[in-house]
Amino acid sequence: ADDEGRAAFDAIIAADGRIEPRDWMPDDYRKTLIRQVSQHAHSEIIGMQPEANWISRAPSLKRKAILMAKVQDEAGHGLYLYSAAETLGASRDSMVEALIEGKAKYSSIFNYPTKQWADVGAIGWLVDGAAIMNQVPLCRASYAPYGRAMVRVCKEESFHQRQGFEILLSLANGTPAQKAMAQEAVDRFYAPALMMFGPPDDASPNSTQSMEWHIKRFSNDDLRQRFVGMIAEQVKVLGLTLPDPELRFDEDSKKWIHKELDWVEFMDVIKGNGPCNAQRLERRREAHEDGAWVREAAAAYAAKQSKKMQE
Ligand code: 3HC
Repeated sequence: ADDEGRAAFDAIIAADGRIEPRDWMPDDYRKTLIRQVSQHAHSEIIGMQPEANWISRAPSLKRKAILMAKVQDEAGHGLYLYSAAETLGASRDSMVEALIEGKAKYSSIFNYPTKQWADVGAIGWLVDGAAIMNQVPLCRASYAPYGRAMVRVCKEESFHQRQGFEILLSLANGTPAQKAMAQEAVDRFYAPALMMFGPPDDASPNSTQSMEWHIKRFSNDDLRQRFVGMIAEQVKVLGLTLPDPELRFDEDSKKWIHKELDWVEFMDVIKGNGPCNAQRLERRREAHEDGAWVREAAAAYAAKQSKKMQE
């Protein structure tokens, strides 16, 4: 049965088709998807914190309402992605536990602080912009539930990116102090946002296999340089600058060249030594404890309902 299964799987991948939960799949395919989808979900959940930090201090009711909607969207993306991971056999409790115990990876970017209001704009424009650049190709990931989840997520992400750009635009066209705040936020978030795409291609252990299986459609560096090209144009509309004197379009390679990124810092942040890692996990633990009564009540209610059905 495994030989037949593998032949069917290989044929689907060769035809650039989609693998559904009940289809046969190699153990490593299942494993790498549980790895990536669960980490993607963790990123969404932890990603709520840097922005939530400014909900109570948003400069207007309009900004507060938009920011609340965005943070709620991230929660939804996280739950969507945990459900996609569950279709691969991963248990929700074990994924949540891994994050709470500090054993799970999530996107490095969320371990940086949001020091001022303009950071909410920089996150929307740069972080959600990078997320879209990475997530649009994932709509065509060979694992169908992941691809389907991404279609919904990308629609909401583009609203996130636009609202971030608009925050920066109003600040950049505001007082000199507001413009300086916007520029300082872009200066701080630029390099960490570029590192969201993952390590350089020659230091990316999962890429080859992920691309063969049509999970990853473009390499880390390929998407990174496309992203840089996009923001290099958009930053002109903002009347701000990117903190990258080496940034240029190379006519021969037809690629954007950017400054060297600090991969030692990247590895350090992933290992848990970033500016906010401890605080992010602490907050996540508190939220999990605070929510225990809701989970217990929901489980008790569900048990009562199913008992009634059996009577
Ligand atoms: N942060 C933390 N870990 C990272 C990372 C990052 N930015 N980039 C790479 N890594 C990890 C990988 O997970 C891998 O470790 P692992 O094998 O233990 O999982 C290791 O570094 C080597 O990286 P690879 O390039 O070999 O790994 P991948 O092939 O998985 O590529 C990726 C990395 C491009 C992030 C890919 O996993 C991916 O596309 N993931 C889905 C998208 C995602 O997770 N985005 C995170 C942001 S979500 C977000 O921004 C929410 C938005 O609403 C704000």
